[in-house]
Amino acid sequence: MRGTVRRGLQIAWAALRLGVDFLRLRRRTPEQLPARVGATLAGLGTTFVKLGQGLSLRWDLLPAPYREALARLHSNVPPFPGDQAIGTVERAFGQPIERLFAHFDGIPLAAASVAQIHTARLHDGRDVVVKITRPGIQAQVEADLRLLRRTLRIGQWLWPPLKRQRPLELADELAGFLRNEIDMRHEAQNMRRMASVIDPLAPVTLPHVIDPFVAHEVLVQERSRGAHLESAYGTPGAPALASALLDAYVHQLFGAGVFHADPHPGNLFVLQDGCLCLHDFGSIGVLDPASRLALGGMVEAIAADDAEGVLDAAIALGFFPPQVERRSHVREIHLILAEMASRPLAQWSIAEAIWRVARIGQGEAFRLPPHLLVLMRTLFLVENTLRALDPDLDLLGSLTSRAAEIAQVIDASRPAGRPLTLRLARTARQLPQLVADLLRQAQLSDGRPAFSVHHHGLHSTQEALARTGNRLALALVTLGLYVSGALLTLHAQGPTLLGHLPWLAVIAFVAAGVLSLRLVIAISRSGHL
Ligand SMILES: Nc1ncnc2c1ncn2[C@@H]1O[C@H](COP(=O)(O)OP(=O)(O)O)[C@@H](O)[C@H]1O
Ligand SMILES: [Mg+2]
Repeated sequence: MRGTVRRGLQIAWAALRLGVDFLRLRRRTPEQLPARVGATLAGLGTTFVKLGQGLSLRWDLLPAPYREALARLHSNVPPFPGDQAIGTVERAFGQPIERLFAHFDGIPLAAASVAQIHTARLHDGRDVVVKITRPGIQAQVEADLRLLRRTLRIGQWLWPPLKRQRPLELADELAGFLRNEIDMRHEAQNMRRMASVIDPLAPVTLPHVIDPFVAHEVLVQERSRGAHLESAYGTPGAPALASALLDAYVHQLFGAGVFHADPHPGNLFVLQDGCLCLHDFGSIGVLDPASRLALGGMVEAIAADDAEGVLDAAIALGFFPPQVERRSHVREIHLILAEMASRPLAQWSIAEAIWRVARIGQGEAFRLPPHLLVLMRTLFLVENTLRALDPDLDLLGSLTSRAAEIAQVIDASRPAGRPLTLRLARTARQLPQLVADLLRQAQLSDGRPAFSVHHHGLHSTQEALARTGNRLALALVTLGLYVSGALLTLHAQGPTLLGHLPWLAVIAFVAAGVLSLRLVIAISRSGHL
């Protein structure tokens, strides 16, 4: 409890100092602010460093200097002792380490803020790596996230304009990613999913999860034999690796709709046989078939310098609402495409082009949905890694030469889509004629559209209304006949029946009776009383 209060005060104090710095530096030296934000988060430890790293990808929220300062964030935490690593593994699997492994190296191979990696050998002789989260990290992250929410609530109350930035919503979104990243079961699930997606014939692979050695804090996987991707930079084999990486992403993004979302060079290995190996599946992205199709359309339209097509794809992807003011947007997209076309091919960027299109016409409150953020981040990372491998890469040319393949993988990934595609194709063929007919109709009048409207079902409604009116009129006449019959009976005049019942009243009653019967039959036939 005392620890929570102390931590709460630490977070609140850091937030307050940042707020004061913001007010102080905003006018005089705003360029110092990004570094201040970075230093504050680094001072608060792993949870905040991770949240800061998440924020560094928010092109939709933060200007470049902030994103760069946050991207540089890393916590300088020392590796935790091997004994603790062994303790965590034994608790997770309920067995002593020697029963689990023939050998376990207590010195970590790699250590980061969330987890560290130890090498080990299974009893069957297979070499593995064991990824173990830092002791107590799950509890620490949960406690920090709770305190962060509280601090943000107080912050909103003290300074209401903060609400416009929807900080709680943002914190929850980042927290969701962070929770997934520190749960090794989630990473194992992502690895299994990706293993079913990666083409076994392609020169790109990933380690297998070693079942059943998966727990919240521990993940055991095959050990890759090779070297970090950086070791291949500048070598004669680098362009071929770039090509393999590009092929792998064409397949993941357009064909499978599931992709490794953190392809920075530190997560890539070159294996001894020259294959590329993907590591670190803390975050994967998913694209539904419609988005894949739209993304394919976007690439095709950008390559063809077709601004209208780019806008259609951007709408289909969810960057714009469907009802947009097309003409001005198309003009802006033209400008972006023209600027891109004027660059040397080695600087041309599809990620930047898509991002700039996505930003058109978006107001202050614009937030990209999480799956598109993951997509954008992945596109930027892939491009950077491709460029690091092959600085002269002609990305536009490479994509254009793969256009047929992109179309093919998109098509092959739509088993249930075929009937719809055929229907769409048929409609699409009729569409120009239909539009021409409608435009001709519009011109017949005084320039205003003169379309006649047919509403299916209106005819039967009209009939029903007419029938109801007739029945009401009949009911009123019948009522009138009953009333006149009664009045004639009271004031008997003229010839009578049975001594006192006037004939006129009898006729009125009979007529009323017949009409009543008619009404009852009509109503009972219609089934509605
Ligand atoms: N299966 C593996 N075989 C060999 N080395 C690995 C394997 N998985 C990860 N590594 C190494 O450990 C480092 C950290 O692993 P990673 O999963 O990326 O952890 P983090 O989430 O901390 O970035 C990687 O950069 C890679 O060098
Ligand atoms: Mg990593």
